[in-house]
Order: sequence, then C-alpha cells, then structure tokens
Amino acid sequence: MPRLVFDFVDGASGNEFLSINNNKAYENIKLEPRVLINVEERSLKTKFLDTEYGLPFGFAPMGMCNLTWPNADTMLAKEAIDNNIPICLSMAASTSLEKIYELSNGLAWFQLYIGQDEDFVVDLLNRAKDCGYKTIILTVDVPILARRSRDNRNGFDIPFRMSIKNFIDFATHPNWSLRTLYHGAPTNMNYVTSKSGKRFVRGESRGKIDWNTLKMLRDKWKGHLIVKGVMNEDDAIKIKNYGVDAIYISNHGGRQLDCAPTSINALPKIRQKVGAKFPLIIDSGIRSGSDILKALALGANFVMIGRPLMYGLGADSHPGLIKILQIIENELSTALGLVGLTDIKYVSRKILSKNLLENISYE
Ligand SMILES: Cc1cc2nc3c(=O)[nH]c(=O)nc-3n(C[C@H](O)[C@H](O)[C@H](O)COP(=O)(O)O)c2cc1C
Repeated sequence: MPRLVFDFVDGASGNEFLSINNNKAYENIKLEPRVLINVEERSLKTKFLDTEYGLPFGFAPMGMCNLTWPNADTMLAKEAIDNNIPICLSMAASTSLEKIYELSNGLAWFQLYIGQDEDFVVDLLNRAKDCGYKTIILTVDVPILARRSRDNRNGFDIPFRMSIKNFIDFATHPNWSLRTLYHGAPTNMNYVTSKSGKRFVRGESRGKIDWNTLKMLRDKWKGHLIVKGVMNEDDAIKIKNYGVDAIYISNHGGRQLDCAPTSINALPKIRQKVGAKFPLIIDSGIRSGSDILKALALGANFVMIGRPLMYGLGADSHPGLIKILQIIENELSTALGLVGLTDIKYVSRKILSKNLLENISYE
C-alpha cells in the first residue's frame, strides 16, 4: 500500500504509544496451562445478544476499508457469512449499508457517529431499519478528532488531495494505484447515497453529542443499541441505565485520547460496576487468539478485531483476510485446549494466572 494508506490504517493519535501499549497490556496477562484433560473436541460457538455466532469475535467498524484493496468490504461480508460472525459496517464505510446488509445475509451491524446533522442521522436510521438491521452501534469517543500526525504529515483526506509527495507515493506503488484506478477511488458511500445531501467532512466536530443524544437514539431505535468507546465505569453504569443493550469498551485503537489507559485495563472495573450479566464487547490491541481468550477471561462477552483485518486485506486481498482469520481462530482454539477447556462458554477468570486475581472481586 502507499505510505498514505498504510499510515491511515496503522497510525494512531499523538505519540502513538497507546496503540502499542494496547497490545503490550495483553502480553502482560498470563494464562495457566492445565493438563490431562481431554480437549480433543473444542467449540468456539458464542451466543451474543440473542444470536448464536460461530466464533466469539466479529469485525470492528472501520471506515474506508476499500482503500486497502478494492471490494475489501465485500470480502469482509463474505467472511462474516463463512464464519457466521458479525461485521460492523462503519458509517464512514466505502460501501453502502444496504449493500453490506444484503451481502452479509443480515449478519451486519451498523455503526453511527452522531454529529451536527440530525437529518442525516435520521435518514441513516430509517435506511438501516428499512433494510433489516437489528443492531446499531453508537460510537461516542470521537466528539473531536484527535491529532493523527501521520495523516497530517501525509495530507490524508477523502477524496485524496494530490500533492507532489502523494503523487510519488502512488507512483511507487503501481499495483495498488492501477487496481484503485481501475475500480475507482473509494468514497464514503453512506454519504453519497443519502437523500439528506450531507457530504463527508473529515475532522468535522461532533462535539455536541451528549446524554440527550443517547436518549434520542434509544427512543428512536427499537433494535439492539450498543455504545462504543466507553472506558470509564461511571459512564458505563449510566449508559446501562439509559437502556442500551451492550457496552463496547474501546479506546479506538489508540486513535483518540493518546494518554488513555489500555482498553483491557478498563475491562475489569467496568465489569465489576455493570454486574456479571451485562453484555460487554471489547477491542483495541487484540492481535491473537490468546488475546481474545484473555479478554473473555477478564469479563468480556464478545471481542472485535480491527487493524489485523486491514493488514491481511492490504497484504493479499481476500486470501490475506482468510489467512488472518484462520490464524486467529486456530490460536484461539489451541489456547482454549491448552488451558484445559473444551467450550469457549466455560472461559472464566479461573484460567488467569493467579497473581492477576488480587484486586478483582466481581462475580
Ligand atoms: C482505519 C481505521 C478506521 C476506523 N474507523 C472507525 C469508524 O469509522 N468508526 C468506529 O467506531 N471506529 C473506527 N475505528 C476504530 C475501530 O473500530 C477499533 O476500535 C480499533 O481499530 C481497535 O483497535 P485495533 O485496531 O488496534 O485492534 C477505525 C480504526 C481504524 C484502524
């Protein structure tokens, strides 16, 4: 991929340490191997919000996936079906919400940002309802876009701004450039197809979003509502009390507040506050199957994968995506067996190495 595109995917906010630490935090969590248990047969099937999925993870919402490879969204939808897992389509996606719902046989969830333009949001909600979406995610951690220095240096924007630097970048990545020229440069399709006339503006402030916005959305949307980007336990309990169906713990992959804690650090205290039964999703820093097991052991019910999907797609198109998914699934199934379990539903904090359990008192 050209530097501009790779940096858009791989980059983070500020000094980018949080993006690295998100993953490092998982390295510091240890699982205890157990032996002499028959783990020949293992099941990864997971029930989440009334649906039985094939795996305990899905695809995090990411805008402009088709920048990595033409039709990347279509490949993600196909893999959602083949693995029976949810694909969360970003409002800033390069494919329309109608098309992805159809291509994913209804496995798609839809992610919303709410900014200044209520007509646009109402239009999107109506479109999502009309084509059959059952689950929407409201992302709340981008009231203001954080400084992404790599994007700023590269002059990243949609549509692309052509500078001499970007021209050289594209010219020195001819495979990507020719493919993208042939298929047409991706654009924000949910905007282009909206009757509201709203156009995508990168960096547009959504600073007015507040608790009234959440109430408005809860009143309007009768399906499942999930709030994404929650890191604080008091916010979590208040959001739960607004009647949402699940909370999605995330620091946006270190792309927003650069000095925030890692998301896996926020998980136990949020679990403790919302109680043992309330559905929790987590992302940010998941890079392996054992990371997923650790997140489930610390209290998550479901996990979302972000950048690794984009790396797989960018490296080798659909086969690259399939390979990443196979690696993660294999690692997860193997780690499950090595901690002595045969079914993902039996995962609990008991599989954590004991010194981690000091200070954790939920259940
Ligand atoms: C290229 C890219 C685009 C993203 N776009 C969105 C988006 O449109 N909406 C959203 O809620 N989160 C978005 N995210 C954040 C992801 O949903 C997820 O929280 C994050 O990637 C998790 O971190 P990880 O990739 O390090 O695992 C984006 C992330 C990336 C890398």
